[in-house]
Amino acid sequence: MIASLMPNYNRADLAFEQGQGIWLQTADGRRFMDFGAGIAVSSLGHAHPKLVRTIAEQAGKVMHVSNLYRVPQSEELADLLVQNTFADSVLFCNSGAEANEGMVKMIRRAQYENGHPERTRILCFDGAFHGRTLAMIAAGGNPAYLKGFGPVVEGFDHIPFNNTNTLRDAITPETAGIIVEPIQGESGIKTADIHFMKALSAVCDEFGLYLGFDEVQTGVGRTGKLFAHEWAGITPDVMSVAKGIGGGFPLGAILATEEVAKHMTPGSHGTTFGGNPLACAAGTCVMTEILQPGFIEHIETTGSAFGTMLENVVHNSNGVFDSVRGLGLMRGLHCTLPVGDVLNAVVQQGLLAVTAGDNVLRLVPPLIVTQADCRAACDLLITAAHALTTHKTETKKDCAS
Ligand SMILES: Cc1ncc(COP(=O)(O)O)c(C=O)c1O
Repeated sequence: MIASLMPNYNRADLAFEQGQGIWLQTADGRRFMDFGAGIAVSSLGHAHPKLVRTIAEQAGKVMHVSNLYRVPQSEELADLLVQNTFADSVLFCNSGAEANEGMVKMIRRAQYENGHPERTRILCFDGAFHGRTLAMIAAGGNPAYLKGFGPVVEGFDHIPFNNTNTLRDAITPETAGIIVEPIQGESGIKTADIHFMKALSAVCDEFGLYLGFDEVQTGVGRTGKLFAHEWAGITPDVMSVAKGIGGGFPLGAILATEEVAKHMTPGSHGTTFGGNPLACAAGTCVMTEILQPGFIEHIETTGSAFGTMLENVVHNSNGVFDSVRGLGLMRGLHCTLPVGDVLNAVVQQGLLAVTAGDNVLRLVPPLIVTQADCRAACDLLITAAHALTTHKTETKKDCAS
């Protein structure tokens, strides 16, 4: 008989009862270092006192009123985002996929209003992941995620990631814009070259396209800049944000320049929950913490040291890992053994991580992590690698005898 909870996840048999900082604890008292952060979400760690207080206080006042009324908490968070990014205006929603849907709608609407109703197609990249709605599985283009869900939503074209050769040829009179992750997370922590990012920006300027960055995973400090595109010294026209901005409370946002945002007039788009007082109070708390003097620098320094430590893990892993990927606190270790086996061994040692495509183990700890925490996690990674290889050698010996 089917479980009451639908079986669309292969869940690990772990249920956490309490979190504290980078730690999670099960009901039977087992403690884990959380280098998965709920898939790059818990930016301030678990049970962060300020975030807990903010949410409790706001819940005690008013949680939801709808967008039929002014929501001062969403105005405050929008102001904070506008003051600290390329954006002139912000629209809130509830998740990454929804933010990306909104981003595509804004790109199309702006082309339409500018006299180009024929420009509807969005250029995307092989290996992209933009979420699981019908349009976003089409934007991602991963056959496994499209299978069995009927006609693929029209309007998304795909070309190789990090390759400028095919870029210009892929642009047609119907192309409206480009959407790209500065680091492809889901498909294996693949970092876009700065040169590639700059080429995308130049091509958008040349052909009158809108450039959209999906910073759902890379944003809100994760890579050591507030947003990852800052590493390339370019700005998009529109950007999707989710995951880390709520620190664990569901919140998404679409940030845009005035040129794009001005077409989102009353009635053009809407959401019941998006930008509600509770979510935005949480978002403002997270953003305020991340914007504290020194916090982004802390992420950059810790992330860079973590990268070096992970190189050392590769060298001491008996060949289980062969390379380090990513930037800041968004890291991947490419595995030579099946990543599922590696993850099991790592969890056995008390470290939580996440798998990604291309046989990569993804390490995306809370942004409050220290270098000492990173060192401890790296020791666990080495121990896990040794446990895996010792087990393998012993099994081989047993077979030989
Ligand atoms: C880059 C990127 N975009 C979009 C999404 C989808 O976000 P959500 O699961 O909140 O819909 C994800 C989730 O992993 C992501 O990594």
